[in-house]
Amino acid sequence: MNLQKSIAALACVVLTALALASPAPETDLKKIMQDLRNNTVSMLDALLIDDFAAVAVAANGIAHHPSIPAAQVQLVAKELGPEMLAFKQFDQQVHDLSLSIMAAAKEQDRARAIADYQHMLNGCLACHAAYKERVSKVLSAVDDIETRSNDPL
Ligand code: HEC
Repeated sequence: MNLQKSIAALACVVLTALALASPAPETDLKKIMQDLRNNTVSMLDALLIDDFAAVAVAANGIAHHPSIPAAQVQLVAKELGPEMLAFKQFDQQVHDLSLSIMAAAKEQDRARAIADYQHMLNGCLACHAAYKERVSKVLSAVDDIETRSNDPL
């Protein structure tokens, strides 16, 4: 192996190591919600065709969604004040029901999985009715400020 090839090979190793070491890109509430949506839609599809394994996979994705970044939690808490508790309870409700759906799917208990799914969906929609617009506004206002401060002009 000549020197050039050795250097190229070394660079490859170093770049791969760097890529592996760098933390996963940070998520945000909108991205978390988009994943919840994908899992909720595929869960309905799986329930309709009695694919319990796929129901469990989707339920697991919902139950273990990444946490909301701390900076966004602070903004939401500032906006909602004491109502933050209710906001968290909606999140907890959806979480608990997704775990229950996962257990029902493992037991192939279709009736329980469907009843829990309907309750979970109510939880999603109830939180949206109460807080989606308000929270979205606060978070997008900050996105705008960050975009502007990155603007060289
Ligand atoms: C604790 C409250 C809460 C719960 C529970 C909740 N959401 Fe949301 N959701 C929000 C908020 C707040 C936003 C607005 C986020 C933003 O605009 O940054 C949102 C936005 C969304 C969006 C729009 C994302 C976009 O691209 O604009 C979808 C889709 C969504 N949620 C799906 C779901 C599903 C599915 C569930 C249940 C499995 C769920 N949400 C449960 C609060 C909640």
